[in-house]
Amino acid sequence: MDQFQFHNPTKLIFGKGQLEQLRQEVPRYGSKVLLVYGGGSIKKSRLYDRVVTILQELGVKITELAGVEPNPRLSTVHRGVELCRSEGIELVLAVGGGSVLDCAKAIAVGAKYDGDMWDFAERKAAPVDALPLGTVLTMAATGSEMNGNSVITNEDTQEKLGWGSKLAYPAFSILEPANTATLPKEQTVYGMVDIMSHVFEHYFHQTPNTPVQDGFCETVLRTVIETAPLLIKDLENETYRETILYCGTMALNGVLNMGLSGDWATHNIEHAVSAVYDIPHGGGLAILFPNWMKHVMHHDIARFKRLAIQVFEVDPAGKSDEEIAEAGIEALRAFWNSIGAPSRLADYQIDDSKLELMADKAVRFGAFGNFALLEKQDVLDIYRSSL
Ligand code: NZQ
Ligand code: ZN
Repeated sequence: MDQFQFHNPTKLIFGKGQLEQLRQEVPRYGSKVLLVYGGGSIKKSRLYDRVVTILQELGVKITELAGVEPNPRLSTVHRGVELCRSEGIELVLAVGGGSVLDCAKAIAVGAKYDGDMWDFAERKAAPVDALPLGTVLTMAATGSEMNGNSVITNEDTQEKLGWGSKLAYPAFSILEPANTATLPKEQTVYGMVDIMSHVFEHYFHQTPNTPVQDGFCETVLRTVIETAPLLIKDLENETYRETILYCGTMALNGVLNMGLSGDWATHNIEHAVSAVYDIPHGGGLAILFPNWMKHVMHHDIARFKRLAIQVFEVDPAGKSDEEIAEAGIEALRAFWNSIGAPSRLADYQIDDSKLELMADKAVRFGAFGNFALLEKQDVLDIYRSSL
């Protein structure tokens, strides 16, 4: 293992009826709240009414920022920062999926910064202060509810960049499985692909002696694989929703990757695609991940063999290591196809006309990937095999 320190400051509040905990949490931070949400799903599900009722009963002054886009935009962050300043906001409360949470994180740091928060995404500056942030999550996917990461799209430059800060961890996050039960099938599938992809990003590493971490990763992967087919046939089942919600948080809250450096190339490659084409993050990952795997398999065939046997139950009898590894990758493709995830860029009408542009965006900060270092040509090869 590598040396590491682990400190996750988010108070995770999980389970049925836990929205009521807003009554204890919100007054800790103040009485002027910026309520951040997306395109209306929380109004349809009545979660909005439940949150606003609690806030009103607490005597909180509510300012709203509605309409946060999937793949949240920098201009929306700017609107939120302005509201924080003009209304003297004391707590940012995000109610929604990863996009809403990521936007709220950018607002929370942007409100305490004299320049443009895009400086953080461009690595020109780092946050030194932030407003406190609380979240009520409605979609299992990103892990944003318990990490310090955020991904923002600058629509003027067509760039989608991730950034992170210790100051961007939510102070508290409330996760009720029932709040995810209204998520349509398509988004549910994207979320599960994203969760598995986060685990893959950890699992493909070069750090020696990580038996517990590798085993934890395999458990989360097997759990999603077992639960996904049941959930997509029974979308309102709160037991399945609970399992996937927990998997989503654990996949990216720093626990699975303690003491190791995961790969993270595929996320970078996907962000370049969704920057240009505004496709759902999980859909992009479903297309790209198996092709990244094929491209880098020979860097450590034993790791792919282990994935195939431990997670996809490939029978190794009579097969070479390479055949076992390939059978694992094909089993992943088949599994994602079986739950309805896309498998080709053409599924989003993406052709080869902008591959160079996307590859340039992916290598913006240089070659990348901790399991296998990728140059621009590797990225182009992976895009081509994904067409
Ligand atoms: O906008 P509303 O109306 O709320 O609808 C959303 C949106 O259309 C809908 N939705 C969410 N919860 C719902 C619901 N609809 C019905 N019922 C519910 N309970 O789902 C749609 C997608 O929501 P979004 O928040 O965009 O999805 P997700 O959570 O997958 O977030 C994706 C964003 O997060 C970034 C992605 O790149 C993308 O921009 N990521 C953030 C990470 C992080 N902060 O750690 C890591 C990830 O790897 C990822 O890159
Ligand atoms: Zn992701």
